[in-house]
Amino acid sequence: MNNQELVRYRRDGFLVLENFVAAEACDRLRARANELVAAFDPGGEILPIFTTKNHARDQYFLDSADKIRLFFEEDAFDEHGRLRQSKALSINKIGHAMHDLDPVFDAFSRTPELAQLASDLGHRDPLLLQSMYIFKQPNIGGEVRLHTDHTFLWSEPMSVTGFWIALEDATLENGCLWALPGGHELPVKKRFRRVGDTTVLEALDPTPYPKTGEVPLEVSKGTLIVLHPALPHRSGPNTSARSRHAFTLHVLERGAHYPADNWLQRPNFPLRSFSRSI
Ligand code: FE2
Repeated sequence: MNNQELVRYRRDGFLVLENFVAAEACDRLRARANELVAAFDPGGEILPIFTTKNHARDQYFLDSADKIRLFFEEDAFDEHGRLRQSKALSINKIGHAMHDLDPVFDAFSRTPELAQLASDLGHRDPLLLQSMYIFKQPNIGGEVRLHTDHTFLWSEPMSVTGFWIALEDATLENGCLWALPGGHELPVKKRFRRVGDTTVLEALDPTPYPKTGEVPLEVSKGTLIVLHPALPHRSGPNTSARSRHAFTLHVLERGAHYPADNWLQRPNFPLRSFSRSI
């Protein structure tokens, strides 16, 4: 990342870096994700978790911080609890520790280029906190509403940087990201907290974000978008017949205070850096 790019990142709260990841590396990750989906058996004990919004479903999510878990689309099931389409086309995402548990995801997440980028952005000792593989399936891939990542991965000082990597071309039709340039300067509106064995979305600032000014980030496969923790961003639904796979990685600065009531906790599985030797 050059100095002009750093200036742009600080001004806008996001930065688009084209051709950051080679097409072959994107393809390797897609192939591995497809293998994980193929191996996933949602029958028996697992399937009921997804069919109702209940305690078990909360627990499946809350327990995923140190695991590889697959999550279904909201509308994947009919009124009888049956999948509307094939399993492979019903998965919303995989989360949240593939970067530590799966060799292919580990290699994709711990490259010298990513470590250098984190350093260029000002991280001195970044820890890999969370990974997500997002499918944004053809026709049913749902929208992700406007939010900041700080809301979900709180730290003091604010230090969780997001890396969003397009594994396929992302367009308006298949649900590319949208961002509010400069919106990272505005107060963060909400905080997602763990309370007992459930979660709450706590309101912090009632002022709404401006209604105008968002820009779509249509990008080609292999593009990396850096997201400031306080940047408001969202993605639209996928209204096309093409998928929009993406991989996200979040890094936390070691030494920042990471509250015990953040949803993502790894008490028995310490976070690791970009180094692959540990
Ligand atoms: Fe986000």
